[in-house]
Amino acid sequence: MNRIQSTLAVALLSIIPAIAFSAGNAAEGKNKSAVCHACHGETGKSVQPIYPNLGGQHQDYLSKTLYDFRDGSRQNAIMSGFAANLTDADIEDISAWYASQQGVTEIQDK
Ligand code: HEC
Repeated sequence: MNRIQSTLAVALLSIIPAIAFSAGNAAEGKNKSAVCHACHGETGKSVQPIYPNLGGQHQDYLSKTLYDFRDGSRQNAIMSGFAANLTDADIEDISAWYASQQGVTEIQDK
């Protein structure tokens, strides 16, 4: 390994913990999402059609949406209030939990 390669290897290794952190902890997320279950269900299968299903949704989509509700770039009378109470770690963990669940329907490949 030459000097550039080893520098790159060190740089890559130092990125891995950051990725692991942003991945969130699904087990923590399951507990932290207790308040969400009333509408979105424990596994993300919502209790009524007016509440979106979250199970099996992409993790990045879920976390971006929650950051957007929290900072006001997406607004909803119900969700803005719930997101306001979440820390960054809560958002990552809850997103990991719902993303790890099975979606209620699978998108068909064409
Ligand atoms: C009282 C019912 C209720 C509770 C409790 C609730 N939500 Fe929601 N949630 C909604 C509604 C209604 C929407 C749709 C908002 C909209 O139309 O923008 C929504 C939307 C969302 C979305 C966006 C879904 C999408 O497809 O864009 C996410 C993510 C979400 N909620 C996560 C959570 C989390 C995490 C919690 C717990 C901290 C929570 N919700 C608690 C009612 C609820």
